[in-house]
Amino acid sequence: MERVILHDDLTFSRIIHGLWRLVEWNMSKEEVVHFIESCLEMGVTTFDHADIYGGYTCEERFGEALALKPSLRENMQIVTKCGIKLMNPNRPPQKLHYYDSSKNHIVTSVDSSLQKLRTDYIDVLLIHRPDYLMDPTEVAEAFRELHATGKVRHFGVSNFTPSQFDLLQSYLDKPLVTNQLELSAGNFDLFQNGTVDHCMLHRVKPMAWSPLNGGAIFTSQTEKHVRLRNTLMDVAKEIGASSIEQVLYAWLLMHPAQIMPIAGSGKLERVALAVDSLSLQLTRENWYEILRASIGKDVD
Ligand SMILES: NC(=O)c1ccc[n+]([C@@H]2O[C@H](COP(=O)([O-])OP(=O)(O)OC[C@H]3O[C@@H](n4cnc5c(N)ncnc54)[C@H](OP(=O)(O)O)[C@@H]3O)[C@@H](O)[C@H]2O)c1
Repeated sequence: MERVILHDDLTFSRIIHGLWRLVEWNMSKEEVVHFIESCLEMGVTTFDHADIYGGYTCEERFGEALALKPSLRENMQIVTKCGIKLMNPNRPPQKLHYYDSSKNHIVTSVDSSLQKLRTDYIDVLLIHRPDYLMDPTEVAEAFRELHATGKVRHFGVSNFTPSQFDLLQSYLDKPLVTNQLELSAGNFDLFQNGTVDHCMLHRVKPMAWSPLNGGAIFTSQTEKHVRLRNTLMDVAKEIGASSIEQVLYAWLLMHPAQIMPIAGSGKLERVALAVDSLSLQLTRENWYEILRASIGKDVD
């Protein structure tokens, strides 16, 4: 599996696996171990979490599996996130869900993630969403402390605009290693508004969340999704892909920003399809054909 260099001492697998939906898969601890081992065998070594996934339970499920087989940890990179505060019966009461990038929240969230994931360190911590009240001085202090204590090795962001990214970066000693963004053939906005260009400008490799539109691409009957699905089927036939999801992955992988798609399926055969898409080759014409199906018109 191709590796992507995010920093001198950090590489990710080109295909990442995301654990947002882990609790929905109803796997036993042993099945989670098997799932992780199978991903590693396929070369998928980077796993994406967030404190809030599964109503604050997914990290724990993953950690229970790691506790059964601790040797797995050294062969993987763990990404997790903080900064969203969800209303949840197991959390202190709050009136609504909101964002918190205060130093106290970041540091306590990391301590909780470490405990749940049963690990001593997080490879990359992301601020999950831009907090309108973000004080970059506080975030920088939190990052400095977490790095100095060895709890977090690298930092990044998710869903940040270019200016939000630059603002935070200007206060940090270390480079932000990624911006995790919603990128897919069905969601072209961030290619158009300069967010992906900004990553390329700063040599920052984006992680792509919901690369299959969260599964909507397979079921949605909107005009756009039907049009896109038909085009994806035509292209799949043309390039010898076994499914439209492979074409969706190949579309992201062809972009020169070195996008790392995060596969979100709980089915190993679907993770394997993502991995196999690395060997597919789209032509520029295919790429633009898919873009046209997404935006509903030819480029000018
Ligand atoms: N930073 C953020 O704000 C943010 C937001 C959302 C997600 N994420 C990250 O991105 C990861 C991936 O997101 P995602 O789960 O939305 O990714 P996705 O790959 O776009 O969607 C996964 C969903 O599609 C379904 N699916 C896949 N192939 C299918 C097929 N051939 N037919 C029907 N359904 C199919 C999967 O079901 P099966 O499990 O049954 O295959 C699963 O429910 C998450 O796990 C999380 O780590 C980050």
